[in-house]
Amino acid sequence: MAAYNQDAPARLVSGDAQPADDIALDRALRPRTLDDLIGQDKVRDNLRILIQAARARGEALDHILIYGPPGLGKTTLSHVIAHEMGANLRVTSGPAIERAGDLAAILTNLRKNDLLFIDEIHRLNRAVEEILYPAMEDYALDIVIGKGPGARSVRLKLPPITIVGATTRLALMTAPLRARFGATFRVDFYSLEAMEQIVARAARLMNTSIDPPAISEIARRARGTPRVGLRLFKRVRDYAQVKANGHISPALAVEALQLMEVDALGLDDLDRRVLRTIIEKFAGGPVGLETIAASISEEGDTIMDVVEPYLLQLGFLDRTPRGRVATQRAYEHLGLPYEPPRQPGLL
Ligand SMILES: Nc1ncnc2c1ncn2[C@@H]1O[C@H](COP(=O)(O)OP(=O)(O)O)[C@@H](O)[C@H]1O
Ligand SMILES: [Mg+2]
Repeated sequence: MAAYNQDAPARLVSGDAQPADDIALDRALRPRTLDDLIGQDKVRDNLRILIQAARARGEALDHILIYGPPGLGKTTLSHVIAHEMGANLRVTSGPAIERAGDLAAILTNLRKNDLLFIDEIHRLNRAVEEILYPAMEDYALDIVIGKGPGARSVRLKLPPITIVGATTRLALMTAPLRARFGATFRVDFYSLEAMEQIVARAARLMNTSIDPPAISEIARRARGTPRVGLRLFKRVRDYAQVKANGHISPALAVEALQLMEVDALGLDDLDRRVLRTIIEKFAGGPVGLETIAASISEEGDTIMDVVEPYLLQLGFLDRTPRGRVATQRAYEHLGLPYEPPRQPGLL
């Protein structure tokens, strides 16, 4: 099961999947083959070779770990890999597997060359993780029978399988788990050009008439994140249906996007609140992430996963050992006067 955060307020520019809307969108628009994928050239080229080699040898694919911010295509890649391998895909997630026995049950139900996708794999607990080690290394399941001094361990053989793990937080994964993946890929923010192609593809698949400059308007605000681009596109499309018989002109796109309070760089209210807090409450920083989160009553995780990576990417935020610092560009974007930080120790 993919994790849908039901509690978080729906945020238009969040890369996290949101119920209903995004699920339907995913089904219609999710690329199925490597050729359908837009952008992520390096990941795609590497995967193509891994897949071709495994297929030629008739073996299960190496275990693959995919990491990066939400909404960039990790789940999509797992589907594409399964499709290209002609393999069955089983989907689960770190928090969904509570006990070692749950994972053992999943593993014993897999057949030869099946793919098991474990989303949010950094959230597996220790006992579950330990079941995974021999499964990945030796296609084996170690089961302990009995308790106390009479307990003994029995090893069951599993068919050759592939584990595909995804995480937004590589740093939270244990070293032994990371070491068991044969290949590790990072998904990156998409270029403007790739985002334009993704929006154009969605327009085509959803039979929407849209002018190319309108595609660019949407793509530019998508924070290099396909999920955000597709969601904005869908909102603009709804707006066009109501206001303009369905046709999306550049002027209409801008009007709709302004209504959503997504600015020219794709920043929304939360991003701006984070920047303003650093600048106005903490004199531009440095300030710790948890402190920022607390002072705007948000989860530190949300800020870490969906706010900070994009602000770093824009060069609006610097990460220093003593905390986050707002850069001159951030001040300029918000129209605030910039004062360079004082050097520690100097008056
Ligand atoms: N390379 C891509 N090309 C086109 N669309 C993509 C691509 N990657 C992702 N998408 C679209 O973006 C959405 C989010 O992707 P998803 O795989 O769910 O992200 P993640 O698992 O990293 O949060 C999906 O609906 C998918 O259709
Ligand atoms: Mg996902």
